[in-house]
Amino acid sequence: MRNFITIEGCDGVGKTYQTRMLRQYCEENGIDNIVFTREPGGSDIAEQIRRIILDANNSQMDDMCEAFLYAASRIQHLHDIVKPALEAGKVVFCDRFVHSSYVYQGLGRGLGLDRIVNLNELAVGEYMPEFTIFLDLSPAAAFSRKGGADKTDRMEAVDFAFHTKVYEGYKRLIAECPEKFEVIDASGTKEETQAKLREILTARGILR
Ligand code: TYD
Repeated sequence: MRNFITIEGCDGVGKTYQTRMLRQYCEENGIDNIVFTREPGGSDIAEQIRRIILDANNSQMDDMCEAFLYAASRIQHLHDIVKPALEAGKVVFCDRFVHSSYVYQGLGRGLGLDRIVNLNELAVGEYMPEFTIFLDLSPAAAFSRKGGADKTDRMEAVDFAFHTKVYEGYKRLIAECPEKFEVIDASGTKEETQAKLREILTARGILR
């Protein structure tokens, strides 16, 4: 869908920070045709679903239930925010979208890529991003940037294996469909990553 852009990456790559910096840049430069939003959540009802999904007390949640809740929150978010903005001629810049479900639920949790692609097809229909920015930083690099997690700790080890699957999942999606992605090497400084992000959006005619 034209003017619909998403940004993806593993946990801890600085995606949310980069989006915030971009938003600030737009505000300071009078660029008011871009709607910034995020998933899971992004609208009132979708944020309520987000709270259920991310509630630490719900760790017993079935993986498929979680996948459906992400899809449900996505439907509501599309309805409340994305569709109206695109129809009004705005650009929508969304922090995470279907590719998060593909790699976190489909590949990370092991529910199967095909099943999660099908589920999300039902949820979003034609509302697929025009292209997706991928902030490329391996979980190992992201972990060590955060001060270095102890890989010998059992929970951290489980986490690390999961995030490695997620990272490899993104790489697989990009290899299968490179024309749908803009990959940014996120191993440099925050400022370098921001500069690359703006460069891409300028080349695509989104930033002037
Ligand atoms: P969030 O706090 O927004 O993390 P981040 O700033 O890294 O985006 O939490 C979102 C978490 O939800 C993140 O770990 C990825 C996960 N997620 C999925 O597993 N599937 C999805 O479809 C989406 C949108 C997010």
